[in-house]
Amino acid sequence: MVVIGAGGHASETLDVILLNEYNEKFAFFDDVNDLTKWPISFEHYGKIRSKESLGKYFKKKPQFVLGVGGVHVREKLYDLAVKMEGDPYTLVAVNSTVSRQNTTIGLGCSIMQYAFVGPSVHIGKGTLINTRANIHHDVVIGNFCEIAPNALLLGRAKIGSNVFVGAGAVILPGVVIGDNCRIGAGAVVTRDVPSNLTVKGNPAK
Ligand SMILES: CC(C)(COP(=O)(O)OP(=O)(O)OC[C@H]1O[C@@H](n2cnc3c(N)ncnc32)[C@H](O)[C@@H]1OP(=O)(O)O)[C@@H](O)C(=O)NCCC(=O)NCCS
Repeated sequence: MVVIGAGGHASETLDVILLNEYNEKFAFFDDVNDLTKWPISFEHYGKIRSKESLGKYFKKKPQFVLGVGGVHVREKLYDLAVKMEGDPYTLVAVNSTVSRQNTTIGLGCSIMQYAFVGPSVHIGKGTLINTRANIHHDVVIGNFCEIAPNALLLGRAKIGSNVFVGAGAVILPGVVIGDNCRIGAGAVVTRDVPSNLTVKGNPAK
């Protein structure tokens, strides 16, 4: 498997991979950053530094997981990996809780440590549910969203695609958030938010 990215979120992704006792070989892909300053100790894992090498690696082991935050970066790198014949892997931390009642999680999502995903939740592709986020019953989340640590999405809330929900934000039951929105850390969202807006504070505006 390839972890796409090699920074802070990739190192948390590595923790989940190790926790889950994933037994296959894996490597990290980053063709942009100077990895000497990055947190992962690459003596133990492979390092892929060009798109050409990524394509070669995928011919042997096509699975990949997104190890980056940022809704647009996630979408861009997912599309790149799929174009290079990578196969999106859905990473679910063994210490998270995901309901078995009618809940669906899209390809290439990451459900990080201690997250809760309740019944009849539907999550699109490439979305990140970060550490200790809580997604309650009947919530719908689109593609390539980032739900930051400790965010709380209450029953029947509906979140569009490419939405960032900041750490500790609370989305009240049934609230509808459009595409490309940003919700500030600690916000309490009491009303629907039209697409392309940033809201913050309590009540969020
Ligand atoms: C809301 C947010 C997306 C806005 O980012 P931004 O557009 O770069 O905004 P700025 O930092 O320029 O701040 C603009 C103003 O909003 C205020 N502000 C920023 N974030 C705020 C928040 N979460 N709640 C309340 N006010 C906030 C700033 O103090 C500033 O106020 P001022 O104009 O009176 O000085 C961002 O601040 C935020 O909350 N990000 C969440 C980070 C997070 O949870 N990361 C998780 C990583 S795993």
